[in-house]
Amino acid sequence: MKNISDIRSDFPLLSRKVYDKPLVYFDNGATTQKPQCVIDAFNEVFTEYNANIHRGVHALSDRASEEYEKAREKVRSFINAGSREEVIFTSGTTGSINTVAFSFGERFINTGDEIIISHLEHHANIVPWQMMCDRKGAILKVIPINDRGEILFDEYLKLLNNRTKIVAVTQVSNALGTILPVKEIIKAAHSMNIPVMVDGAQGIQHGAIDVAAMDCDFYVFSGHKIYAPTGIGVLYGKTKWLSDLPPYQGGGDMVANVTFEKTTYNELPFKFEAGTMNFPGAIGLGVAIDYILSLGLEDIEKREKELLVYATERISGIKEVKIYGNTDRKISIISFLINNIHQYDAGMVLDKLGIAVRTGTHCAQPVMDRFGIDGTIRASMCFYNTTEEIDLLGTGIEKVIKMFAK
Ligand code: ALA
Repeated sequence: MKNISDIRSDFPLLSRKVYDKPLVYFDNGATTQKPQCVIDAFNEVFTEYNANIHRGVHALSDRASEEYEKAREKVRSFINAGSREEVIFTSGTTGSINTVAFSFGERFINTGDEIIISHLEHHANIVPWQMMCDRKGAILKVIPINDRGEILFDEYLKLLNNRTKIVAVTQVSNALGTILPVKEIIKAAHSMNIPVMVDGAQGIQHGAIDVAAMDCDFYVFSGHKIYAPTGIGVLYGKTKWLSDLPPYQGGGDMVANVTFEKTTYNELPFKFEAGTMNFPGAIGLGVAIDYILSLGLEDIEKREKELLVYATERISGIKEVKIYGNTDRKISIISFLINNIHQYDAGMVLDKLGIAVRTGTHCAQPVMDRFGIDGTIRASMCFYNTTEEIDLLGTGIEKVIKMFAK
């Protein structure tokens, strides 16, 4: 792997100051910063070949379409999907989950059917299923978690039955950092012919993803969590499902033939890509994938593990701090509270020290309810963070404690 100062200089925003202090960016779970190559690729689209994709016969449109389809191939290879037909571009994880929940619901869900999610889900993997259950008269079942923030696998097995039509679980909890045993979840569901959708929003950026080895039926993620622009995401689905599901949205490009009497739909993947797609975002995503591959996925994973170990030791060494999510299998997230100090107050003081953390429920209110709290402070780290920054966070927390003790 490149040395850390070279890596950091790839990300222009990391060298800026906030309140005249060097920025410490620990909000990577919410969105990641962008390397210069992604910013350049975005600029290049608008300065050299911006034109609508799949629609023109002119040179610019040809180039934009070609780059967009190249990006699809990069995603396919990155997640090891079987074919490009299985890679749908969307607006993000939320767009992808809404597509699955709507289309799967329309085709396969009837009154009394059951859908299983876990207690660790982000609102984006709860609400679309609730909306689908309301439309279809189906029932949402939830896998409980323990005090360490791990799912109770035996309870999951008990929930599976012949009314279960789909399981939708996150790969990694955004609120606590817990890595879920998705392979085992999928194996158990498949033994009863039940498909599984995996929310990879917090999983895609921390190591190699192989949807074929995982054997998930659907896998979804957002570009902006993986160093690419916002507004672009991916829905991977096995061809057998995607060809069977009705489209989520209607519009241009997703059709083969339109008359007032009848419309036929385009082939995959276009059937699920209605309207002008975010091709600059997709192209940026392709470049972001090239970038992290150039760093090395194993090295990224190793570095983030080291940061997690260092941060856990430093932060848990402060006696006023309580960490939520204490499983051995977690990504580089520390979610914590400081005795009697509200997370917003602490977050505001840390911000004045130049330290960006996320505070609140992290769009995972049921997780907070499970622990009887109304939120946490979350430091989410990635490969461009340093142990020096973790020390600054440690010192910052100690300052917060002193300030509120007065
Ligand atoms: N889902 C994002 C987060 O966890 C926004 O912060």
